[in-house]
Amino acid sequence: MVSSSRILVFSFVLVCFFGTCCGAQKKRHFSDLKNVLTVEVSPTTNQVMKAGVDTITVSWGLNQSSPTGTDAEFKKVKVQLCFAPISQKKRAWRKTEKELLKDKTCQFLIVAKPYIPAEENFTWTIKRNIPSATYFVRACAFSSEDHEVAFGQSTDAKHDTNLFTIQAITGRHVSIDICAGVFSAFSVVTLFVFFFLEKRKKA
Ligand SMILES: *[C@@H]1O[C@H](CO)[C@@H](O)[C@H](O)[C@H]1NC(C)=O
Ligand SMILES: *[C@@H]1O[C@H](CO)[C@@H](O)[C@H](O)[C@H]1NC(C)=O
Repeated sequence: MVSSSRILVFSFVLVCFFGTCCGAQKKRHFSDLKNVLTVEVSPTTNQVMKAGVDTITVSWGLNQSSPTGTDAEFKKVKVQLCFAPISQKKRAWRKTEKELLKDKTCQFLIVAKPYIPAEENFTWTIKRNIPSATYFVRACAFSSEDHEVAFGQSTDAKHDTNLFTIQAITGRHVSIDICAGVFSAFSVVTLFVFFFLEKRKKA
């Protein structure tokens, strides 16, 4: 009979082994990706777009000056909305990390689809849950192992140029609600005041 403590030790060793070997293998960095996708977006520099209303058209494709076969391992493309540095300041939850698994620059999916070797585009209505911030768009190509292998973005390497702004609708709705609340409270008070004055006049 195998003692349970032996099984425990064995599974512990097994977990450690796989944990270290596979964990180390999976650490992939943004700098490992080839910048071979071209990405263009419909908003012009500094354009202000409204969440829930406006649309963004993203076009992407393989940079035609890349060597033949560059896209041979591309299986899937994922296009995401990414925070620009100005909207990442003092916000650890949007921080850019060199390690892909930890990177929080791009948090909103625009579209994911199988890769085809052609210019493609997608028109996206900005989701209502997108927070007010300054953004750019990044497309990533994935291999058959579902790893990022290449990218392209609508800005430069420093995320400095060609940025656009999205204005969330929630903020506006909240202020409208507050206004409505204040006005209805005001009208109730007014009603009572008039009622009181009328009563006094009659008395
Ligand atoms: C395509 O790649 C070349 C060489 O790397 C680069 O100079 C050029 O700017 C790229 N074109 C686009 C549209 O990104
Ligand atoms: C988007 O793709 C379609 C189909 O390939 C094409 O006809 C259209 O011209 C493209 N639009 C833009 C804005 O690139």
